[in-house]
Amino acid sequence: MRHLLEIDDLTPTELGAVLALAETPDPPSVLEGRGVALLFEKPSARTRHSMEMAVVALGGHPVTVRGEEVGLDERESAEDVARTLACYHALVGARVFDHRVLDRMAALDAVPIVNMLSDKAHPLQGLADVLTIGRHFGRISGITVAYLGDANNVARSLALAVGMLGGRVRIASPLGYGMGPEDLDRLALAGVRPQLSHRVEEAVEGADVVYTDVWTSMGQEAEKAARHRAFEGFGIDEQVMSLASPEAVFMHCLPAHRGEEVAPAVVDGPQSLVWRQAENRMHAARGALAWIVQQ
Ligand code: CP
Ligand code: NVA
Repeated sequence: MRHLLEIDDLTPTELGAVLALAETPDPPSVLEGRGVALLFEKPSARTRHSMEMAVVALGGHPVTVRGEEVGLDERESAEDVARTLACYHALVGARVFDHRVLDRMAALDAVPIVNMLSDKAHPLQGLADVLTIGRHFGRISGITVAYLGDANNVARSLALAVGMLGGRVRIASPLGYGMGPEDLDRLALAGVRPQLSHRVEEAVEGADVVYTDVWTSMGQEAEKAARHRAFEGFGIDEQVMSLASPEAVFMHCLPAHRGEEVAPAVVDGPQSLVWRQAENRMHAARGALAWIVQQ
């Protein structure tokens, strides 16, 4: 049984197989007559809808519930929730505040667990991101991706996915908001060595992809004011984009905060791939689910 809690749960070859399944025009009906539980402790637009439609495309039936409806570690333990859902479903997707909840559910091997975003990682987003880069440039190997801002869940999964497929990763974050030693060790284990900096210009110069995410992630709302002060100068506007390759694209996992981490002229401009990225969430999810249930 295989779980997908972070991109490096897959080998580079397996990552390629998931992306190939995402591209197939004829998705296999591997979930015919089976259920998939989708559990959300935080809000979601893209992940919920792309996952539900991916389940349907594979012939299955999605059952989506909010965290409070199952009461993870409140009404009963996360382990007992996973064991219960395993009685009815071929797979469980969960969006949680604390990544350790996913680790505990996966450790049971009662049912495959898919991380639909945690404080640590967002592998379904990382899959959609490399699918989008690959579709746009025709390759990922040799492409330079500059990630600006908070080295968060999205950044970790992006760096792993891009790096494992031979892309170059640069990350520029304010002091205190960059990748920590544990993150860098994990990336290195996967063969990924990002170029780190605290200067936007250094990361963006000549890059093929300029990527950012919100400065305050779900669950960090109390830090919002401090984060806004810390991230001043890390917003992406047309001037920042002009430092990248002339063919560069802009990417963002969404939701975007126009006028904060990105200017409207960039996210809504001709270099923006954000809506293709959002659509690719569905194709990537279909590939990931099809691969996991066939293991
Ligand atoms: N990008 C992303 O995960 O979006 P949602 O939070 O809307 O699912
Ligand atoms: N880093 C953001 C991503 C949202 C899709 C968050 O965790 O809120």
